[in-house]
Formats: sequence, structure tokens, C-alpha cells
Amino acid sequence: MIERLKKWVLAKPQRGNLSLQPDAMPRHVAIIMDGNGRWAKSRGLPRIAGHHSGMKAVKRITMAADRLGIKYLTLYAFSTENWKRPKEEVDFLMRLPQEFLAIELEDLIRNNVQVRMMGDREELPDFTLDAVEEAIVRTSSNTGLVLNFALNYGGRKELMDAVRKLGTDIQAGRIDADGIEERHLERYLLTGGMPDPDLLIRTSGELRISNFMLWQLAYSELWFTDVYWPEFQDEHFCEAIREYQRRARRYGGL
Ligand code: IPE
Ligand code: IPE
Ligand code: MG
Repeated sequence: MIERLKKWVLAKPQRGNLSLQPDAMPRHVAIIMDGNGRWAKSRGLPRIAGHHSGMKAVKRITMAADRLGIKYLTLYAFSTENWKRPKEEVDFLMRLPQEFLAIELEDLIRNNVQVRMMGDREELPDFTLDAVEEAIVRTSSNTGLVLNFALNYGGRKELMDAVRKLGTDIQAGRIDADGIEERHLERYLLTGGMPDPDLLIRTSGELRISNFMLWQLAYSELWFTDVYWPEFQDEHFCEAIREYQRRARRYGGL
């Protein structure tokens, strides 16, 4: 990985990847991909054109994460609250995974990327779920970047579901209520097995979490940019990582 990053830095120094420390890369980066609608509006386009353009940014940043040697990339694609949007927009968003994977799955496979998804599967239309499941199955033996889509994901829903499962364990006598530890809850979270995000990026100037990874972001470094998601480039990504590498993570210590 470090070798690949060095090669990339040498090949494309103009991309803003200079001065990144290859041995201090975040292991897990999570991104709230926001601003598609405003990007479209600013160009006199319909909101869905923004989502379409955002899809290209997904590919671009996935490939950048891979080149940078990041192990986990979690992308917030659709929240449990996004169902409130007009049906036409929701329908379009539900078609996007299928469209994205029809174009990109082969290339993701070639690049050894593992596709995953976290979120509520039941409410997703069949065509959305089928496309995602196919990508998960076909990339399951890959060993490179883990590309984790948060699709119909909500942090509170995730926690509530985990608490319900813990309740069942207690009722069944599998664990003792007094003996509950963080790891018991964590094994029921949708990130099971993944490390917590080291870095959270949110685009489009909004300074909030919007129900994203409420448990896992406890000690993540937060980085915000005014850039709208469709305009988010490799150099912005590198800027976020550069800033991350300058920070001192203390976890409450000194
Ligand atoms: C982010 O862009 C994509 C999703 C939430 C699905 P938005 O659609 O929220 O764009 P803005 O925030 O309205 O500009
Ligand atoms: C968060 O963006 C959800 C995703 C990026 C998928 P929103 O645009 O839905 O968040 P709010 O409504 O501005 O908080
Ligand atoms: Mg938004």
C-alpha cells in the first residue's frame, strides 16, 4: 500500500497528495456526501442531476481512497430520514445503486474492492437490494478497500435495533443485564468488525451529523468543507487527510 501511494505521489504530484504521510493514513474514513441538490440548483439543473453527478464523485473518491491505502470507506448514501423527500427524488435515489454498479462493478472487482452495505434492507425496493447484494457477493472474496454504503441507514435505528437484540439476549439468559459491556452492544451494530471511523468528512457546509454513526463517531476527527459533493475532488480528500494528520488525538488523555 505504501509503495502504491508513493507511486501515485510521484505520478500525480499536482493532485494535492504531496506531504501526506503514508504511514499515518486514517484506517477508516466516513463521508456524509451532502450538497447534491444545491450543486444542481446553482447550475439551474434539477436536483436529480446533482445526485447523478454525485455518483461520479463516489467512484472518484473510492479510487482515491484505494490508492491512498485507506482500508475502510463508508459513504452515507441514503438516511432513514430521506424517505421524507418527494417520491420522484426517492425513486431516483433508489435507482442509483443499480446504475452505479452496472457501470462500475467490474472495475471495482478488478481493483480488489469489497462492497458492503449497512442499513435497513427490508424497506429497500427489490431492484436496489438485488444490485447491492450482487455486488456484495461478487466482491466478498476481495481483500482490498472495503467500500461500505450506508443505505437506508440511521444511527438511532441502528442503536435501537441493537438494544432490542440485547434485550432478547438478557431475557433468554444469555447475558446478565449487569454484565453488559460495550462489546456486547457493538456486535449488534451494523459496522460489526470494522474499526470506528478515524475521520468523518461532511461536504456542503452543513455542520451536523444528521443521524450518522452515532456510536462509532465518538472519537472521530471531524472535517467539514463548503464544497458540494459533486465537486469533491481528490485534492479536497487529500486536504482533509492532511488536516487529520496534523491533529493530536487524545481520547480524553493528555
Ligand atoms: C446529499 O445531497 C445526497 C442525499 C442526501 C441523498 P442532498 O440531496 O442532501 O443535497 P442538498 O443538501 O439538498 O443540497
Ligand atoms: C445526510 O444529508 C444524509 C446523506 C448524505 C445521505 P441530508 O441532506 O439528508 O441531511 P440534513 O437533512 O441536511 O440534516
Ligand atoms: Mg442535504
